[in-house]
Amino acid sequence: MSTTSTDDTTSSTPTALPGGTWTLGDRQVTRFGYGAMQLAGPGVLGPPADHDGALAVLRAAVRAGITHVDTSGAYGPRVTNELIREALHPYPQPLLIATKVGADRDARGGWPTARRPEDLRRQVQDNLHALGVETLDLVNLRAGDATGPQAGSIAEAFETLAQLQQDGLIAHLGVSNVTAEQVAEARAVAPVVCVQNLYNLAVRHDDDLLDDLARDGIAYVPFFPLGGFTPLQSQALSAVAQRLAVTPTAVALSWLLQRSANVLLIPGTRSVTHLRENVAGAGTVLSEQDLAELDAIGG
Ligand SMILES: NC(=O)c1ccc[n+]([C@@H]2O[C@H](COP(=O)([O-])OP(=O)(O)OC[C@H]3O[C@@H](n4cnc5c(N)ncnc54)[C@H](OP(=O)(O)O)[C@@H]3O)[C@@H](O)[C@H]2O)c1
Repeated sequence: MSTTSTDDTTSSTPTALPGGTWTLGDRQVTRFGYGAMQLAGPGVLGPPADHDGALAVLRAAVRAGITHVDTSGAYGPRVTNELIREALHPYPQPLLIATKVGADRDARGGWPTARRPEDLRRQVQDNLHALGVETLDLVNLRAGDATGPQAGSIAEAFETLAQLQQDGLIAHLGVSNVTAEQVAEARAVAPVVCVQNLYNLAVRHDDDLLDDLARDGIAYVPFFPLGGFTPLQSQALSAVAQRLAVTPTAVALSWLLQRSANVLLIPGTRSVTHLRENVAGAGTVLSEQDLAELDAIGG
């Protein structure tokens, strides 16, 4: 991306953020990132109610030192990409913008699968245009559907993205909403730098996959780290938070950072205050006893 930085978006030292950094391909990013999905309107459709507030959140994220922002052309659609461009372009050099292809939006807000080669080429072009770049830093192939990963081959779709990578339109590739078999299938086609799946304190179907990826040096990026549209709620979580005198959100994010070094956070928020709270809280140190109580939630 561009090497120019502006006063608005000048980063502080990335390693000051909780969790330090991780290397995605050849790019070092802060493990504490930001997920832009909920900056779009209700149902992830249309513009935000507070346009300037959305820009302020993105600028505050980069000012806080965050160098990993997650988006998709399907959010809005195009809305979060256009907000990112308006808020942050020309992009500060360390910023990595991860986007997703593989689904479109329909008029009712559905996420119809769109993984034919021509769909993927169109979506990559849309992302390049909306973000205002010549090369996308990282593109995740989103598989599955709204209910989660679905068995079936993703080889042809991933081969299409690998070709676009060869053509210079994409720097790094990842996969999202996938099974372990689909991760292996993609890795046989081209290097995979990250896997983005649903995972948090309460939803732990991917424990084994996360550990396998850690052994292979591949990042695991949990989406809905705070529960997404249904905020995480648990007596055990509240009890640990109360004992440590922090918020449940802080505990949920800290647990993920302590879960494994290959976990990268992309919590979403429309609020600068919550963003700052999350950055501050994600460094909460959890004891063995805290971890045992928290592990029981998803166990
Ligand atoms: N690959 C995929 O298929 C997929 C699917 C879904 C999401 N994603 C990615 O994952 C990212 C994260 O998902 P998400 O944003 O939907 O869910 P999330 O990060 O689990 O939770 C976001 C929700 O938590 C609230 N929140 C955040 N900080 C808070 C705080 N300090 N106190 C109270 N509430 C707080 C937010 O409300 P406020 O706005 O009021 O703070 C928002 O409603 C998305 O942005 C997107 O990039 C990927």
